[in-house]
Amino acid sequence: MRIVAKTASRRRFIRRGMELGGGLLAVPALAQTPDAGPVNDTLRTIHSLRTIHGDFSDKQVPDREVKAILGASIRAASASNMQSYSIIVVRDAATMQKLTGYRGSCLLLYCADYNRTIDTAKLMGYEFHADNMEAFITASTNTMLAAQTAVIAARSLGIDSLLTNGIHRGDMERIWTLLDLPQTACYPLIALILGYPRTEPDHKKGRLSGPGVIHNEKYHRLSQEELGKIILLCDDKAMQLNQSEGFEKKGYKHYLDWFYKEWAGRGRTTGETPMFKRLKKSGFVDLAG
Ligand SMILES: Cc1cc2nc3c(=O)[nH]c(=O)nc-3n(C[C@H](O)[C@H](O)[C@H](O)COP(=O)(O)O)c2cc1C
Repeated sequence: MRIVAKTASRRRFIRRGMELGGGLLAVPALAQTPDAGPVNDTLRTIHSLRTIHGDFSDKQVPDREVKAILGASIRAASASNMQSYSIIVVRDAATMQKLTGYRGSCLLLYCADYNRTIDTAKLMGYEFHADNMEAFITASTNTMLAAQTAVIAARSLGIDSLLTNGIHRGDMERIWTLLDLPQTACYPLIALILGYPRTEPDHKKGRLSGPGVIHNEKYHRLSQEELGKIILLCDDKAMQLNQSEGFEKKGYKHYLDWFYKEWAGRGRTTGETPMFKRLKKSGFVDLAG
């Protein structure tokens, strides 16, 4: 019964995509898209990625697997091969909860971090400065590549994950207190929680993949018509692009009405956000500039 329902939903998804111009679509499962190009185990793993939104079972990820995930994570490219990040491995569930609001088997906290580089320089009689936004962007790029590589490596081992910026919610000082992070030149960017799902997610999120996402040769600003198609795609249940199932019940015509009115503006404060204040305290904001 379930397979029949899924197939029907998928047919609706494809039909809807064709009606809306096809080019705006991303199809959720690689195995079902023989025309999407070559298929291999790596691509299958990538296309099987999905987030477990905190519903992890008590089953533990063995240390051996965590080690393999970390080994793959640090293989990601980094500017000048400087690996300007630190990865804090946390196994304590209460600490995970305090850090992110979630708990799983293991948490990897990915921090943009220059302290190793600064301290090595000092030891050798040099100065190394990372107190500017350029350094922060470079370190962030390196850090995020390592984090996503870990996500893929984990999935290839049958281990699921949640990337969460829950660390940026609430009083961020708790992260420095709980983990003894250096006060400057170190900033936690993302937490990756690893584990096994308690229950299989009942759907997989789709993606936009056409105009406005992929640009050929030059940037293409979307026309009103193309924007209108995206608004409808976000409403389409079969696309699974949205994260508020009941936007109609809440009285909204479109999912994006809910998104812009209720979600995007939530918690907005005037003046500096706590996150930006902490970024300044970490010394990455070049105040002289
Ligand atoms: C920067 C970032 C922060 C996220 N934070 C959360 C979070 O706090 N809670 C959560 O359940 N999912 C979080 N996610 C997961 C996204 O909701 C998820 O990737 C997105 O909805 C697409 O779903 P999928 O990964 O299953 O395809 C986050 C993802 C990213 C990249």
